[in-house]
Amino acid sequence: MSAEQNLDELETQLMQQISTAPDAPALEAVRVASLGKKGSVSALLKTLGGMSAEERQVKGPAFNVLRDQITKAIAAKKSELDIAALNARLVDEKQDMTLPLLDDPLLEGRLHPVSQVMEEISAIFADMGFDVAEGPDMESEFYNFTALNIPEAHPARQMHDTFYFEPDENGERLLLRTHTSPVQVRTMENGEPPFRFIAPGRTYRCDSDQTHTPMFHQVEGLVVDETTHMGHLKHTLEAFLAAFFEVDDMSLRLRPSYFPFTEPSMEIDMQCRRDGNQLIVGEGDDWMEIGGSGMINPEVLRHAGVDATKYQGFAFGMGIDRLAMLKYGAPDLRAFFESDVRWLKHYGFMPIDVPGLAAGLSNKSLSGK
Ligand code: DAH
Repeated sequence: MSAEQNLDELETQLMQQISTAPDAPALEAVRVASLGKKGSVSALLKTLGGMSAEERQVKGPAFNVLRDQITKAIAAKKSELDIAALNARLVDEKQDMTLPLLDDPLLEGRLHPVSQVMEEISAIFADMGFDVAEGPDMESEFYNFTALNIPEAHPARQMHDTFYFEPDENGERLLLRTHTSPVQVRTMENGEPPFRFIAPGRTYRCDSDQTHTPMFHQVEGLVVDETTHMGHLKHTLEAFLAAFFEVDDMSLRLRPSYFPFTEPSMEIDMQCRRDGNQLIVGEGDDWMEIGGSGMINPEVLRHAGVDATKYQGFAFGMGIDRLAMLKYGAPDLRAFFESDVRWLKHYGFMPIDVPGLAAGLSNKSLSGK
């Protein structure tokens, strides 16, 4: 057998092994047996070193052509096998797309009960035609006290446990508003009567125990028109509280009281009864205080630039945190502001459940509760 014949045979043999290799390991074995250190093709190339220059000139290119052909054939077969293996995996492996997603971010977040209750309050009053007004947390003594008929040296100023800022060069000092009532004057002086608005927001007093936190929330309400009277006040509050607590009937008791910014002034008590630990509102023969109210003192209307000989109205203020505690059964007010994620998960609300009167105020069905 001539050397060329040997070479042709080797080529034929290797090409056949390559084309019939069933999988990647078999192909790799062919590669090692031919192109590997001790492989047949490598052995041929090694013989070049012992050849005469003439012989090498003839054999060298032939051996190199063989090596290149085998290398290319192995690469082509390899990609063919890879594609086949991928296709086989695609046929075999299945993803079950019906499995539920784990932590969907939209379902993870919670709305704080105070935010939820503020939205519920706004939804109810919006339905009764009230606007929502706002004022600053850092307030002047004028709006927080003077404009509300609480002059300097009035005992009510001391009763408010106010947080004051350092006075400026004119001796005027800002404070953290002690109630939402300053929004009454701010809103009225920027508009024209009639007025009908609520003002929910943060309020501050230097006080802390199980039912008081230095920061808390109130909602102020105000109606001013030419003939607004106490009957409107009582009905408005009854309608609000019945809607808020989702009961059919709500009786209120208006107890005489004193606020400098209203005359007459009343404390609002709502009808309730206790069943063990549970509080049931709108029935029974017990009463629970829920806020203050009254007919707006003409002095306040004058401070707001409203003609007190033509206009009159009522105002009220309620604690939002207390409403939230009563409705959703959270016993300790301080927990509201501790930012404990476990507490929020328990008492919080799904952010996509927007409260509305038609769809249900506190519909928690999506939250899985
Ligand atoms: N501002 C009062 C407080 O913080 C609550 C209040 C009472 C508001 C009577 C009113 C009102 O508008 O008419 O204790």
